[in-house]
Amino acid sequence: MEDLIAAAAAVRENAHAPYSGFRVGAAIRTPDGRIFAGCNVENVAYPEGTCAEAGAIAAMVAAGERRIAAIAVIADSPAPVPPCGGCRQRIAEFAAPDAPVTLATTAGATMRTHVAALLPGAFGPDHMAS
Ligand code: THU
Repeated sequence: MEDLIAAAAAVRENAHAPYSGFRVGAAIRTPDGRIFAGCNVENVAYPEGTCAEAGAIAAMVAAGERRIAAIAVIADSPAPVPPCGGCRQRIAEFAAPDAPVTLATTAGATMRTHVAALLPGAFGPDHMAS
């Protein structure tokens, strides 16, 4: 998991966060071992900003991958940074419920959880079955 945290920390350096000042990095490992990374990209029209997790997912999908085997998120926060509600749903779209999620701080704290714990009772394709 250290390499995933390192990838998230590296891409965090590229975050565009002039409004919040809160830079976030995320890195996804796919089942074949590849890593895709993303950072938050804010916009002066605030709601148009995107989270680091969304960027990492977009990079993964653009490369033709569809499965998140593991994901790590890092920020300079007092406690390991949790994904926002929208990103929990975005992650659940591509990850098994037991897929590991590592939340980290730039100071070195980590918290390990999994997708189902972040989003219990997630809305999924089965709920649209008629
Ligand atoms: N942010 C992320 O990129 N990921 C998270 O998990 C939490 C929040 C970003 C969005 C915004 O650019 C900044 O952090 C402050 O909310």
